[in-house]
Order: sequence, then C-alpha cells, then structure tokens
Amino acid sequence: MTPRPPLRCDVAVVGAGVIGLASAWRLAQRGARVVVADPAPGSGASGVAAGMLAPVTEARLGEEPLLRLNHASWARWPGFAAEVATAGGRSIGYRADGTLMVALDADDRAVLDDLASRHRAMGLEVEVLRGRQARALEPGLAPGTRAGLLAADERSVDPQALVGALQAACEAARVELLVGSVERVVTTAGGDRVTGVEVATAAGADGAPEMRVIEAGTVVLAAGCRSRDLPGLPAVARPPVRPVKGQVLTLRQPPGEALVTRTVRGIVRGSSIYLVPRDDGRVVVGATVEERGWDIRATAGGAYELLRDALALVPGLDDAELVAVRAGSRPGSPDDLPMIGTSADGLVTATGHHRNGILLTPITADAVAAIVAGEPAPDEVAPCDPRRFSSSGGPRPAAART
Ligand code: GLY
Repeated sequence: MTPRPPLRCDVAVVGAGVIGLASAWRLAQRGARVVVADPAPGSGASGVAAGMLAPVTEARLGEEPLLRLNHASWARWPGFAAEVATAGGRSIGYRADGTLMVALDADDRAVLDDLASRHRAMGLEVEVLRGRQARALEPGLAPGTRAGLLAADERSVDPQALVGALQAACEAARVELLVGSVERVVTTAGGDRVTGVEVATAAGADGAPEMRVIEAGTVVLAAGCRSRDLPGLPAVARPPVRPVKGQVLTLRQPPGEALVTRTVRGIVRGSSIYLVPRDDGRVVVGATVEERGWDIRATAGGAYELLRDALALVPGLDDAELVAVRAGSRPGSPDDLPMIGTSADGLVTATGHHRNGILLTPITADAVAAIVAGEPAPDEVAPCDPRRFSSSGGPRPAAART
C-alpha cells in the first residue's frame, strides 16, 4: 500500500453507525474538525435495527440505571428527530403512535399480566386492555387476542433513513467521511496515550488501497461489537462487547387498509415478537436473539419463527409481500448498559448499546460531545463508565432479567 501524509483532525470517530455519525455531527456542531472512518457506513446493527424507541416495553426489572438512561434519551428524541430531519434534508420516518403489546392465548396473558405488574413496580405507565379493546386499536390482530398493554408514549424511527440523514447532516457540518477499514489504533511509544488511527481506504485514483494515518486529539470508539477487536487498543480500554445476533424480516402490507398501524409487540405461545410499521407500507418484524459469535447469516429457521409468530398475531399478513430477510449483530454488554466515557488517555468509548442503540443515540451523542470538550456528561450516563469492567473494579454482575 502507498503511504500518504497523515490527516490531522480534532476527533477521529471509528464507526459510521448511528452512534458514530450522531457523535461526529454533535462534535462538528461545536466547532471540532472531525473525521469518521468506516468500511461500510450504516452496515452494522444500525442497518438491521427495527427502530423502536421503547423505554417502557424494553424495560426489565433490576435494570433501573438502564431505564433512567433510556428515559432520558427518549425525552431528547422529539427535538433530535426534528433537528436531524432538517439538517439532513429528509424524513427519518419518525412516528409517535405508541406501542401496543398483546397476548395471544391464556398462557401468554399470564405473562402479560406479570409484565404489567412489573411495569407498575418500576413506576412505568401502561394501560391494561381487554382483547376486544386491543383489537379495536389494531383491527388486524387475531380474533382470539386475549389482552393488551398500551404504552402510548413510545415512538419509532426508520434507522436506515436515520443513517442517511445523519450522513447528510455530517456532510453539511463538514465532517469528513473516510470509507475504509480502521486497521489499528495508534498510541504514543509507551502505549499510554491514543493519538490516532490507521485506515486502509480504496481511495487511490487507480482504486488501489491506501493507508491513511489520522492524527487526532481524541479518538471516539463507536464500532459496535467490533470495538473489542481493534488492534492497538490499550488493554485497559478494550470494551467487553460481544455480538448478539438478531434476524428481522421486512414485509410490505397487502393492498388496502393497513393491518399494523402502530408498533405491535406480541407474546405468541411464549415467544416474543414485534412488528414496526413504516409510513410507506413496510413492516419490520423482529427479532431473534441468538448468541452465535460472528455468524450473521439469515437462516430458514429464524425466518420461519418470525413468520409463524407474525402470522399468528396478524393473520392478514399472510398476503404480505416478503421484501427482505436480514441479520446483524447487536453490541451486547455484560450488564446490558452501554459503555460511554473516557476509557484511556485520548480515547472515548461509545458502544455496548445492545437492544437500545437507536433509542440511546441522542443522549450518547450529547455525552460524547460533552466528554470530548471536557464538560460533564448528562447525569444518567454516569453508570455507563467504560472503566467499570477494568481489573481494578472487576465486572459488575449481570442484572436480573425478566
Ligand atoms: N430493540 C429490539 C431488538 O434489539 O431486537
């Protein structure tokens, strides 16, 4: 590869998913010169996510710090959505129609009742509905639907549209996007300060790969579940993220009246499923949760499970067009909380958002911009200190799950 002169900037962001792009945009708005590097912008978890903004229906008892963080980011979403759509010059498919969670049979209803009491124990607002009331809200639901929970304040967004809008907003704010793979983090000779990254790009006139060194005052590590394996990272700053596979389907609702008009989450004979409608008639159906390492193949079994449960919940989708089957990896963390904060001298980490990456985009970007500027991050971000897993503190035990 041909060496090129180093590119100098204030901040180099590793990763152009929603977290990296939103952080870069916020940093540039504060006047920083920012370079973002990614071999395929938006192709990680952001490119597969359904986009539920669901602090209530994703809440788990025992995860109160995550609940507070999710709520704080949820509160930022209306302003963030309007600002990104304007700066990016396009719709991001933001919808504020609430979530209806339903139980299909009597056993599922017991699970839903249990969930309702757990939600109340956490101080969350949900309205309990009879099956008939749930069907009045969503007439496409199966006739036998037993009961529902309405989380009226939940919202959704189209993450792929969000990636496009954030890229355009970054471009307008003069963020430089380098399409290439970050090969290595560069540190000072003793390895105690991060000073930049090395990126292999295919930007040469003849298409030949080039190695670019980016010298940066701060590096922001936002490469999702790939953040752990970046060569050159100081050992103390290696985030313990792991890939948690999720498969999703995209359907197009049959012609006529929409069968799914708001986010519908179902407990279907013990399995969980969600259906997230888009303005153009598509519905995203998700998601499997699989611990399969780096395997992100879409499988027949995964697609079968999702279709089986979606059609049991909304039988009219039988006639929906099957548009796509996709799989990706959520960046899982040992305690389900993300890692947001300084992890080494010159390095700020923003990864490990697991099931809540889209919801947590606004607060993460604001926190990263504040931390890089030496200002305090929002209070709710304090439990996300990436150093909580370092050998001095030891890993926190996994929180209880429902
Ligand atoms: N936030 C939903 C999921 O990760 O499947």
